Formats: sequence, structure tokens, C-alpha cells
Amino acid sequence: MEITQETSVGHIATTIPASIDVFERFGVDFCCGGDKPLSEALRGTGVSVGDLLAEIEAAVAALASEQRLHEDWSERDPASLADHVERAHHIYLREKLPYVGEKMATVLRVHGELHPELFELGRLLEHLRKEIDAHLETEETVVFPALREIVETGASGTKGAALEDSLQMLETEHDEVGRLLKAMRGITSNYHPPAGACATYSVLFRELQALEADIHRHVHLENNIMFAAARKLIRP
Ligand SMILES: [Fe+2]
Ligand SMILES: [Fe+2]
Repeated sequence: MEITQETSVGHIATTIPASIDVFERFGVDFCCGGDKPLSEALRGTGVSVGDLLAEIEAAVAALASEQRLHEDWSERDPASLADHVERAHHIYLREKLPYVGEKMATVLRVHGELHPELFELGRLLEHLRKEIDAHLETEETVVFPALREIVETGASGTKGAALEDSLQMLETEHDEVGRLLKAMRGITSNYHPPAGACATYSVLFRELQALEADIHRHVHLENNIMFAAARKLIRP
């Protein structure tokens, strides 16, 4: 469903149940004032239509991710899991990282002077973005194709050894991403915005937290399920 600023909040709450938590969080009246268009319902809340839509999108993604977590991936072959990871998590990261980067730049510009720790957060986020960009590229162009080939044709000695090396390299990169996320969580006091933080500040922290949650699920699927299944093919 396409949401515009004219769409009524009641209709959004009915068709996208995950939006209800977002409305609650920002104090938007979606029940009694449900017939109001979104732009009008947001008046006085300090939240823009764009930010609210991004929040709803994040809530929908988090819910979908939660549901996917309950699928039993352990019975699936690692190639179909690679397809799933690309569709669900890689696309998400490519959309989300630039968006969060923009929010980070805005918050830094407005609040950097009063909250200098934001500069360190921005540096970590930039580092994370670079790591992930290169990592997704390696997975999509080198490792996942090699994995699909092994699922189809079997692992001969050299192919299996090359894939094992690649998996170890990816695991090391996952560790580095985990370290960066931990540092970001530390700097932001577990993503609690300071008192009096503006809406964009809060949106940034919530987006970073959603990003972290998605990466945790993503790395879990790769390290614990996909790579483990790949190793069974290499060393049956
Ligand atoms: Fe991945
Ligand atoms: Fe990965």
C-alpha cells in the first residue's frame, strides 16, 4: 500500500498493524483521530511525514525479520539460504545505510557541538558502512556463487579448500562488524538519546538499533547455519 501525507492514520493502522507501535511511540492519535490525514495527525508532534514513514518501514522490517527467525533454516540447503540472505538482508543494508548516514550527518550538524561523542559515533558508522559494502560485494560476487556451485556439483579438494578460506575470512569480517556495533552501542548508552533530544536524534538512534538487530540476525544465519551447512558439504 502506498502511504502519502493524505492517507488517514486509521487506515494506516488498519492495513499495517506494525505502524501502531510507531504511532504510540510518537503520541499520534490513530484511534479517535483515525480519520485525520497523516500530515494533520503529526502536527505538534515534532515528527515529519518522512521520518514517520521510515519508522513504520523499520517496524515492518523488524517484524518480518522476527517472523523469518522462526523459520527452520537448518533444514534448507546453504544455496537457498544465500538467496534468502541476499534478498532479505543485503537489500535492506543497501537501502538503510545511506539513509542512516544522512540522519547521522544532520544530527552531527545540529548537535555535534553540545554532544562531541556524536563525532566518534559518526566515524564508527562510516567505518561500518565501508566494511559492510566491501563484505556484501565479496559475498555476492565470490563466496555465494562458489557455494552455489558446490551445492550443485559437489566439493572437489581445491574448491572446498578455497571455500573454507573464504568462510574464515567472512567470519573475521563479521567479528569486526560486531565490534563496531558494540562500540556504537556503548557510545550511545544503549541507544538512549539524551534528555531534550530532538525527533531526528531519536529517529537516528532507533534506526541504528534496528540496523544492529537486522545485522545480528543476518550474521546468525550466515555463521551458524549457512557456513555450518557449507562445511558439511566440504567435509562430509
Ligand atoms: Fe551477508
Ligand atoms: Fe556476511
